[in-house]
Amino acid sequence: KILILDFGSQVTQLIARRVREAHVYCELHPFDMSIDAIRAFNPKGIILSGGPNSVYESDYQADPALFELGIPVLGICYGMQWMAQMLGGKVEAGKVREFGYAEIRARGHSKLLEGLQDRTNDAGHGLLDVWMSHGDKVTTLPDGFKVIAENPSCPIAAMANEDRHCYAVQFHPEVTHTKRGTEMLHRFVLHICNAKPAWTMPNYIDEAIIKIREQVGDEEVILGLSGGVDSSVAAALIHRAIGDKLTCVFVDHGLLRLNEGQMVMDMFARNLGVKVIHVDASETFMQHLEGVTDPEQKRKIIGREFVEVFQHEAKKLPNAKWLAQGTIYPDVIESAGAKTKKAHTIKSHHNVGGLPETLNLKLLEPLRELFKDEVRQLGIALGLPHDMVYRHPFPGPGLGVRILGEVKRDYADLLRRADAIFIEELRNTKNADGKSWYDLTSQAFAVFLPVKSVGVMGDGRTYDYVVALRAVVTTDFMTAHWAELPYDLLGRTSNRIINEVRGINRVVYDVSGKPPATIEWE
Ligand code: XMP
Repeated sequence: KILILDFGSQVTQLIARRVREAHVYCELHPFDMSIDAIRAFNPKGIILSGGPNSVYESDYQADPALFELGIPVLGICYGMQWMAQMLGGKVEAGKVREFGYAEIRARGHSKLLEGLQDRTNDAGHGLLDVWMSHGDKVTTLPDGFKVIAENPSCPIAAMANEDRHCYAVQFHPEVTHTKRGTEMLHRFVLHICNAKPAWTMPNYIDEAIIKIREQVGDEEVILGLSGGVDSSVAAALIHRAIGDKLTCVFVDHGLLRLNEGQMVMDMFARNLGVKVIHVDASETFMQHLEGVTDPEQKRKIIGREFVEVFQHEAKKLPNAKWLAQGTIYPDVIESAGAKTKKAHTIKSHHNVGGLPETLNLKLLEPLRELFKDEVRQLGIALGLPHDMVYRHPFPGPGLGVRILGEVKRDYADLLRRADAIFIEELRNTKNADGKSWYDLTSQAFAVFLPVKSVGVMGDGRTYDYVVALRAVVTTDFMTAHWAELPYDLLGRTSNRIINEVRGINRVVYDVSGKPPATIEWE
């Protein structure tokens, strides 16, 4: 396995993704991981990430004893500068920040870059397109190092001391803009570190099943099923490991998408034979939400009621000693990083993960090591249908945050139908490459606006509600662009909603980015 020390770059997670794409297991840890912990982790190699700081003025320092472990080290950007500084080289502030594409020339022999090229220049030298983002740069090599790539503005674009198995690059091989970047990282982990490509889904399933069985023994497990990808895959995996000793609780708060309850029950209870308790708590939720219009208050009520209902069901299962959750690796990294990063609450998030302390159950989190795309691969390998595994995310408070202001059952019913039409049209409309607009967008849904406007239908006047359509493209949901959906798709969706959903006579499309808007309207 490979250890990645995180110096705070925005793209550190991508390094981990690339390493795992080489089927090598890796973990991401904070830069100040102790040398004893590093030894105990026993990595085949270490990657030092980039970061926003300057080596000569920051306390972002790892333990330099890691260079004495005799294992290969790859420094990226800040990681390169820190390596240079620690081993006796020199780092200086550049006059200009370099940001964007750069063309570098690989030089001499090195296991990292030799033979890689995107094109050649007139003199026959191999050139590579890379992505640079830095202010500082290494200006003097540490002893024993040689330059392995250069360009005019960055004469030491990459360096190596192959006797010590130390490599470093000023550019970012982990981002796709560096075309041969994945190859570079794969060379590092497979050929320089000699890590075994044993991280595959079938292997993972076998190991995970053994681990789950060992962990829970004869005890029983309960899991809050939400219909989302993570909890569904966790349920399928745990069920494969312990069968009937898993009980899932599916809380229907009346704010789910159209036919969602039925779909979850069909898939888990009927097809997979998982024990699922379906709780229809919509009446209680609606009662508690009556008259409440403030978004934060609505979120809190839904979150609190959810815990209440879940707890009530959990009490009926006295043998359950474990609470299973679909926590995934980005959640783990995020909460580990939260202490260094400024946390600012825009919205109080709720999902089935917010349960543990009150329940006195031990936590079972079988997806803790996986990235989202790996969770999806796992879901497919466990036999879950493609459409469910590649579903857009759905917020814990459900339609509660998509009905502006007070939530009413009637509003929810109208919204569910409008939303289903939009999703159906997105799935059925393909672009020139044959990809559906559902797959081309990251999240799409309808929002209910409780304002009335005048319309005309046939010979009659209508005075009905408005639905807004929202579709966004994003990789991390922290920022997002509104999706440039084709007009014919929007037109068809609008026509269908107004014709098929009595009570809606106007449809609008949301063209706000995040920031300044958020993805959900509340
Ligand atoms: P915003 O609206 O903050 O949403 O731009 C970003 C992403 O988070 C989802 N979201 C939630 N997910 N519980 C969740 O599990 C929540 O309370 C919640 N609120 C928003 C939202 O759907 C989008 O994908």
